[in-house]
Amino acid sequence: MKILGIETSCDETAAAIVEDGKHILSNIVYSQEKVHSDFGGVVPELASREHVKRIDSIVRKAVLSSGLTYKSIDGIAVTQGPGLIGSLLVGISFAKALSLSLSKPIVGVNHILAHLYAPELEFSIKYPALGLIVSGGHTSIYYVEGVMKYTRLARTRDDAAGEILDKIAKYLSLGYPGGPIIDKIAKNGDPTRYKFTIPKMSDHSKDFSFSGIKSAALRIIRREGKDLNIPDFVASFQNIIVEYLVSNLFSFAEEYKPKSIILAGGVSRNSQLRKAIEEKAKKRGLKYYLPSPLLCTDNAAMIGGMGYHYFQNNDFLSFDYPPFSRFEPKGFRQKRQ
Ligand code: KG4
Ligand code: ZN
Repeated sequence: MKILGIETSCDETAAAIVEDGKHILSNIVYSQEKVHSDFGGVVPELASREHVKRIDSIVRKAVLSSGLTYKSIDGIAVTQGPGLIGSLLVGISFAKALSLSLSKPIVGVNHILAHLYAPELEFSIKYPALGLIVSGGHTSIYYVEGVMKYTRLARTRDDAAGEILDKIAKYLSLGYPGGPIIDKIAKNGDPTRYKFTIPKMSDHSKDFSFSGIKSAALRIIRREGKDLNIPDFVASFQNIIVEYLVSNLFSFAEEYKPKSIILAGGVSRNSQLRKAIEEKAKKRGLKYYLPSPLLCTDNAAMIGGMGYHYFQNNDFLSFDYPPFSRFEPKGFRQKRQ
């Protein structure tokens, strides 16, 4: 089954063709980074406008470069949420129009769960797995018993990890998006120079909270003023975020005894995070799956790939079903606290 995946939940306009949920025939991503960089973050209104401008050519490119024609596609999978409503509406409306004009069935895919699915496109995953999704909008840990069997164990209660990397980089005028810039600069810094501590939740939950680290970072920046050593500071800041993510993830690993660790989302491109996960997983004899960079950040191959399983479950998108901006419960279970 050849599925056209369409993704427009944030600032990437993306389309891909994936066969049987596994084989990527094409994967086209247009990043709007340049459009938003002057603002130091995604401007929702500009993102929607940019999607409108690009979506037709990006989808056409994905179909052409796969060697298929529109007629030979078996179905369409589109990101239904969560994400920016205006951006989602562009992808969904385009996908619905295509579905009507080509008489092809359509499914609406959950963006977060699709991130967790992305490593399936490159690896044969040993389940059960623990999945860490860490991006500009989300930071959560899932227990994954198999494809479409997800239980959320922890989430962030405030900012996402990528969000605070981007915000602090913006505050220091380092550029946008901040995550990859901090990753690069941190390589030349001393991560022990500035002191941060891992937050502890008052209710002993292993949910994340990044706002305390962000406030501590701002206090240090203001205190040090011109004396702030940027490489040492960003190395220390990145280091505490990585330590925090990894310590919660592996503390769940102790409890749930998974066979493997899955990493997903834009921040999973981070070199220190990848290294830390690799080291810890090896030490504990766990398999680990680190997707290649294009499959970490927002892409449509993960939507087309996961869409296949929605088709298998006959989970079609009804034409009056709207996008959703926040996480929606279909396809996952929340652990009882
Ligand atoms: O998954 P994604 O493309 O979009 C969202 O759904 O948010 O993730 C984007 C996030 C941004 O916050 C960006 O700064 C971060 O991923 N990011 C990185 C790196 N590359 C991208 N963060 C740390 N290190 C990187 N190398
Ligand atoms: Zn994403």
